[in-house]
Amino acid sequence: MTAKRFKNPRAEHNYQGRPCSIVGVGSYVPDRVLTNADLEKMVETSDDWITSRTGIKERRVAAENEFTSDMAAAAARRAIASAGIKAEEIDLIIVATITPDMMFPSTACLVQHKIGAVRAAAFDIEAACSGFIYALEIGQQFIMSRSCNTVLVIGAEKLSTIVDWKDRNTCVLFGDGAGAAILQNRPDSHGLLTACMGADGGKSELLYMPGGGSMCPASGQSVAAGLHFLRMDGKETFKNAVTAMQTAAREALRRCELDITQIKCVIPHQANRRIIEAVGERLGVRQDQVFVNLDKYGNTSAASVAIAFDEAVRTGVIQRGDLVLMVVFGAGLTWAAAVIEW
Ligand code: ACO
Repeated sequence: MTAKRFKNPRAEHNYQGRPCSIVGVGSYVPDRVLTNADLEKMVETSDDWITSRTGIKERRVAAENEFTSDMAAAAARRAIASAGIKAEEIDLIIVATITPDMMFPSTACLVQHKIGAVRAAAFDIEAACSGFIYALEIGQQFIMSRSCNTVLVIGAEKLSTIVDWKDRNTCVLFGDGAGAAILQNRPDSHGLLTACMGADGGKSELLYMPGGGSMCPASGQSVAAGLHFLRMDGKETFKNAVTAMQTAAREALRRCELDITQIKCVIPHQANRRIIEAVGERLGVRQDQVFVNLDKYGNTSAASVAIAFDEAVRTGVIQRGDLVLMVVFGAGLTWAAAVIEW
């Protein structure tokens, strides 16, 4: 076996866990495309404004009868096929989402039934746009600790249901979709080398949805006041995203004793091209290292990097053995960066 060209923090001398690989990925986006030209007819905006401020050209919107669990299940089936496993082999399903089908039961339970993963335990996690890395790390821990052999991790969102389509400040930014990965114990590790996660609940009001929880249960008044739509302070969110993403990315690289030039592909949260460029500039990333698909899908929150990861693998941008830096930021505030050996 050739010597590895980086440090695997999971494989320190006192490391007790089993190796964990990402053995398959998959994604799904709804058929309906909503272009910037379509939005020009809905709110006072322009293709030029949206493109220059965000880089987004179009996004996908799920059908009325297509729920987060349906998109999650579709992405999961593709990940299962790509991993060459059977749904019955899955021990655990983790769904990261801020747009579950309903308050309870969890979307993960609904997915478990839809894909026939009859042996699997299932739960959701909520870390907004950072959810997929949070969920990958949780799934990997279950495998390393020998609790599970096969874990299905999904990021899935139907953000179109919590966007105020009359608010031009937010409605142009978001889209629907799902991405999934299968984690499994395999002798050769091809999983997360490290994941650096963080949060700052003191800034929760930069990006939140006030209605529908225990603080403000759904009522006639709450709906009339539009409390079931997401709210965002775009400028402050932008600044915090740039700082948190670059700090987390640097820490993840440092833990693996990696230089950014050794990374084949950087997969950032697909929220805004200007955020991606600002983070890339500060990290010294070459443009050809960065995977961007936000022009097609907008910000799909927890699904964002999951969809991008699958697309990068399917299009051959990432080959087996390549090192990937995934870096995310979202409501909470939450952020995370992971180094993945694909
Ligand atoms: N079309 C035309 N004009 C618009 C639009 C629009 N769609 N939206 C806002 N404007 C106007 C504003 O009203 C404002 O007008 P004013 O100056 O007359 O008041 C003007 O454009 C400038 O608005 P800014 O807020 O200064 O625009 P900015 O350059 O900051 O871009 C944006 C706004 C795109 C939202 C940016 O701040 C951003 O991307 N923020 C980060 C969002 C993000 O990354 N979220 C990630 C987490 S998401 C999650 O966790 C679910």
